[in-house]
Amino acid sequence: MAASAVRSGKTHANDLLMRQLPIIDTFSRTHTNLRISVTDRCNIRCFYCMPSESVTFRPKRELLSFEEIVRFTRIAAEMGVNKLRLTGGEPLVRSDLAVLIEQLAAIEGITDIALTTNGLLLTEQAAGLKAAGLHRINVSLDGLSDDVFFRISRRRGVQKIIDGILAAKQLGFRKIRLNSVIIPQVNDGEIVGLAQFARQHQLELRFIEFMPLNSTGHWEMDQVLTGAALRVLIEQEIGPVKPAEGTDPHQPARDFEYLDGGGRIGFVDSVSEPFCSACNRLRITADGQLRNCLFSDDGWDVRELLRNPQTTDDAIRSLIRDCVRAKWAGHGIQTFEFVKPQRAMNEIGG
Ligand code: 5AD
Ligand code: SF4
Repeated sequence: MAASAVRSGKTHANDLLMRQLPIIDTFSRTHTNLRISVTDRCNIRCFYCMPSESVTFRPKRELLSFEEIVRFTRIAAEMGVNKLRLTGGEPLVRSDLAVLIEQLAAIEGITDIALTTNGLLLTEQAAGLKAAGLHRINVSLDGLSDDVFFRISRRRGVQKIIDGILAAKQLGFRKIRLNSVIIPQVNDGEIVGLAQFARQHQLELRFIEFMPLNSTGHWEMDQVLTGAALRVLIEQEIGPVKPAEGTDPHQPARDFEYLDGGGRIGFVDSVSEPFCSACNRLRITADGQLRNCLFSDDGWDVRELLRNPQTTDDAIRSLIRDCVRAKWAGHGIQTFEFVKPQRAMNEIGG
């Protein structure tokens, strides 16, 4: 066989490998989960997520178009990504989100599409989202009292969120979950009420530990109410729980089941017990920067590639592999070397 034929055979094999190999980092973590932020805008201002005043949002032209998001996702799906989560800011403020969901649901290999929302626009949008192919919804709910909601989000309207959750429940989504960030002296009085509400409506409640992201600038370790402490409180006030069976080893939450059959409750102990070693997530920001960790300041510019008509799918695949190859072992929040990321949560995507 001529040398050139051997070479071209090799190149062909390399191309195939490049396309078909899963997205694996240097710690052998396979990435199958993509979080897509569709906007940095939000209709409220949770203090742990973004500043209250003078927030500048990116102009529309800086955001990835639906077409760009779909192309990128199709390539990622060819490389093994099967689960998507749409985040923001608040994803429901992006117009026609259902149209995007419909296009994402049509991509071969995508088996699960979820949404993280503050729930304010759910009542109006839930039916359209379901029809478009959305499977699961996580609603951020840090309390049931409007005063507590105001202290956290600097806006009123918690009842609208509760109505939205119940409207979505009626529609029969695969799963509706509540995400709560509990901060001492802000909303620790809401813990039991939230757990009771979730049990009453058969919703899964997850407590997420308060994480240091660059929104207000203040974050102290003593503001973190750990999952372990919350669990003790739940067992005292509601009833005993045991570790849930059959949970996904890649999920960030530790899930428990109430012994009385009252459903599940989960704890995302991102600070006290990081789950980095099982992380299978990639994130793309609304302005098209690919990130390998919520806490990393490095971004790989997908938008620039997507907007260059010469860019091949292989070039995008290479960028995905470069980004994942650079992924660190973990965020190390509790270590001396930890540096808070420059972007606030709404600019990265939760
Ligand atoms: N720490 C923990 N959770 C946060 N979220 C936003 N900012 C923080 C933070 N600093 C959560 C919201 C929402 C999701 C987008 O991320 O409560 O559920
Ligand atoms: Fe908006 Fe979500 Fe940030 Fe709250 S946490 S300000 S709801 S993007």
